Amino acid sequence: MTAAADPVKLMKQEVGKAAAALVKSGTIVGLGTGSTTAFAIQYIGERLKSGELKDIVGVPTSFQAEVLAKEYGIPLTTLDAIDHIDIAIDGADEVDPQKNLIKGGGAAHTREKVVDYLANQFIVVVDGGKVVDKLGSIFAVPVEVIPMAMTPVMNALKKLGGKPELRMGVKKAGPVITDQGNMVIDVRFDDIPDPVNLETTLNNIPGVLENGIFVNCADIVLVGEVVDNQPVV
Ligand code: 5RP
Repeated sequence: MTAAADPVKLMKQEVGKAAAALVKSGTIVGLGTGSTTAFAIQYIGERLKSGELKDIVGVPTSFQAEVLAKEYGIPLTTLDAIDHIDIAIDGADEVDPQKNLIKGGGAAHTREKVVDYLANQFIVVVDGGKVVDKLGSIFAVPVEVIPMAMTPVMNALKKLGGKPELRMGVKKAGPVITDQGNMVIDVRFDDIPDPVNLETTLNNIPGVLENGIFVNCADIVLVGEVVDNQPVV
């Protein structure tokens, strides 16, 4: 007997597939991080393999994305070798009605922000549970911080009214370490009335490398839902 397919996984697959279908031959593609984008990377690889898609090159947003892209046969490049990105596909942890995002659930938001902001077209892939009226409703804001600045940054975040918590890894054996060798503080705010302002304020704290608020950059948000146990995009 085969196990019943997980409808949430199927839905993520469908969203990833829909995003991968938007990639055109001859383009430079930003490859995001996370479980939903992983399906987009897989389908881009499959389109390449079948010959439906030709001459694309990917820019990974993390070590995880790089490994996946290599597994699926997507040629890669770096930002030093190109002058633009045509399209980027990436997940998010929250999306508001203005298409502002909280990202960084996978601790990759620093590189993701570089790649996603550079893209001429930025496609966000999420499930319906991540669509919120206001940012910060369900997810804390991830802040990447250099290790020696941990304590002053924690204090500064408290002064801003946040509740900061150092992100710990699996089994809480130690802190999560980013691809840059830094740590992530997740900051909960009771209210984020002005995401544009908060993004800048957080990045102005000395020792902060980047935070997970993405404003004015998403072009298309593909939302997956499970309806009657079936995936719908
Ligand atoms: C990683 C991210 C991810 O894109 C975000 O956490 C969504 O991931 P998933 O698709 O697994 O829910 O920002 O830093």
